[in-house]
Amino acid sequence: MSSLTTSKAWIALQEHYQQIQNYSMRDAFAQDPDRFNKFSLHLNDILFDYSKNRITEQTLPLLIGLARHTDLETKIQEMFSGVAINTTEHRAVLHVALRNRSNRPIFVDGEDVMPEVNRVLAKMRSFCHRVRSGEWKGYTGKTITDIVNIGIGGSSLGPKMVSAALAPYSSPNLNVYYVSNIDAADLISTLQNLSPETTLFVIASKSFGTQEAMVNAKSAQKWFLDRVNNDRTTIAKHFVAISTNTELVKEFGIDTDNMFELWDWVGGRYSLWSAVGLSIALHIGMDNFEDLLQGAFEADEHFCNMPFENNIAVIMGLLGIWYNNFFGAQSYALLPYDYSMRYFSDYLQQGDMESNGKSVDMNGKRLDYDTGQIIWGQQGTNGQHAFYQLIHQGTKLIPCDFLAAANSFNDLPEHNEILVSNFLAQPEALMRGKTQEEVLHELPPEQRNDSVLVAAKVFEGNKPSNCFLYKQLTPKTLGSLLAFYEHKIFVQGVIWNINSFDQWGVELGKVLAKVIQPELSNNDVIKSHDCSTNGLINAYKKLRKACPNKTS
Ligand code: F6P
Repeated sequence: MSSLTTSKAWIALQEHYQQIQNYSMRDAFAQDPDRFNKFSLHLNDILFDYSKNRITEQTLPLLIGLARHTDLETKIQEMFSGVAINTTEHRAVLHVALRNRSNRPIFVDGEDVMPEVNRVLAKMRSFCHRVRSGEWKGYTGKTITDIVNIGIGGSSLGPKMVSAALAPYSSPNLNVYYVSNIDAADLISTLQNLSPETTLFVIASKSFGTQEAMVNAKSAQKWFLDRVNNDRTTIAKHFVAISTNTELVKEFGIDTDNMFELWDWVGGRYSLWSAVGLSIALHIGMDNFEDLLQGAFEADEHFCNMPFENNIAVIMGLLGIWYNNFFGAQSYALLPYDYSMRYFSDYLQQGDMESNGKSVDMNGKRLDYDTGQIIWGQQGTNGQHAFYQLIHQGTKLIPCDFLAAANSFNDLPEHNEILVSNFLAQPEALMRGKTQEEVLHELPPEQRNDSVLVAAKVFEGNKPSNCFLYKQLTPKTLGSLLAFYEHKIFVQGVIWNINSFDQWGVELGKVLAKVIQPELSNNDVIKSHDCSTNGLINAYKKLRKACPNKTS
C-alpha cells in the first residue's frame, strides 16, 4: 500500500466519504441559504462557484489535510523557483516564468531566466508589429494577410484555442490557420485558398523533430517553392520558426534571425505563453498577448499566496481528487457556454491527460490509486442536445465545469440571454434533479399510473459541478482561467505523487509507426508483428492496390 492511501488524511477522507456519500446537495441548499457565499471565490472579474459539489463544511478541511500531507506548499514553491521537478527529464518546469510580469529573478542552473524571456518577448513584439502594420512584406512586396501555424500537440492546441477564444481582439486583415494533422487533407484544405505572396508560415515545434510538424512544414515549403520558381531566397520572408533547436531550424532552411526561442524548461503543453504563442500574438497583437500573460500572472500570484481554503486552483484540484479517488468518477466534462471557447476541452485534454495519465509514482513504483481523469466536453448548448442525457440520467458520475461570460461580444441580446440561461439552468438541474413526487405532480392524471414513464422522467440529481462566470472573455480573463486549470493539474499531480511534466507514454507508438511505415510501401507479405498487426498491414496493402479511385 502506498503512503498516500495509508495516510491519516486519506483514511479520514474515506471515512468522510462513507458518511456523506448519500448527502443531498438539494437538502443542503434548502438548509443553508449562505451555501453559495461559503463555497464561492473571486479573482478580479472571475467568479468561481463550487457550491454545487457533494461537500459539507468538513470536506474541504479534510481535502486540504491531504494536500498538506503531500507537502503541496513546498512543491508549489519548488516549481516557481526553478527546481528540476520534472525528474525523468531533469528539467525545471517554468511556464510561470514566461508570464512573470513582476520580473523577479527565477534561476535555472544558477542563471536568471528572465532576461532571456524578456528578450524573446521583445523580439515577438517587434516582429508582430512589422507583420501587423504591413511593414513586413512578402517576396512580391505585398503585405502578409494569412498566417499558417504548423505544429502539433502543445505547439498547436493552445495557440489554436486562444486564437479562437480571443477572435474579437483579432485584426480583420490577418487570418490565422492551424495545421497539425499528418493527414494531408489538413494542409491541403488550408492552402487551397491561400496565395504564397501573402502567406507567412510559422513552424512551431519545440524539438523541431516531431514527424507531423516536420513533414507538414516540408510540404508547405515545397508548396511555396513550387510557386516561386524554387527561389530559396524568398523563404526568409515567408517562414519563421519557433523551437529550442537552432541546428535543426538551420538545417530546415530557416534563417535563425527568423527563429524565436523557447527553452527545455517549457513543457510543450504549457508553452502557449512562450514564443509558441507567436501566432496568437500575430492574431490579436502583442499588447493583448501581454494581457493574456498578465491574467495568468495574477492567477499564479493567487495560487502562490492564497491560503488553500481560498485558493481557486487548489480547490479545483482537490474537488477533482474527491470525485476521482473517493467517488470513483472516471471522467470530467468541460462545458463552456461560449462559441469562442470551442477548442477549450481539446486543449485541456492534452494539458490534463498528457500530464496526469501516469501509473507509476515519482519513485517508479506502481500506484494503487487512480490518477488522471478522462477530460472531455464541448460547447454547452451543443452538448445539451448530444450527450447531456447521460450526465443527467446515466449511471456514471461525471463532474462538470460550466463556464460563461456575462457579456458577449456579439450584438444579439436574445441569443446571449438564452445562452446564459442554459448555462445557469444545467448546473441547477444536475444538482436538483426531479423527484418522483414532482414527476407525478406535473403529469396529467391519466398518466400517473404509467410507472415506466414516471421512472424515465425522474432525475436523480445530486450531480456535482463548478461554475466559472466572468465579466467578459478578455485576454486577461482567459489568461487567468488557463492558469487555474494548469495549476489544478499540478495540484493533482503533487497529491498523486506523479511526474506531471513528462510524457513517455506517447513514445512507443511513434517508434512502432516508424517501423511500419517502410513496410507499407514494399511488396512483401509482412510477418514480423503479432498476427492482428500483420493482418491489418497486409489487408491495407491489398486494399490500397485495389482502389480504383486512388489519386496518388
Ligand atoms: O508527442 C507528444 C508531444 O511531445 C507533446 O508533448 C508536444 O506538445 C508535441 O508532441 C509536439 O512537440 P514539439 O513541439 O516538439 O513538436
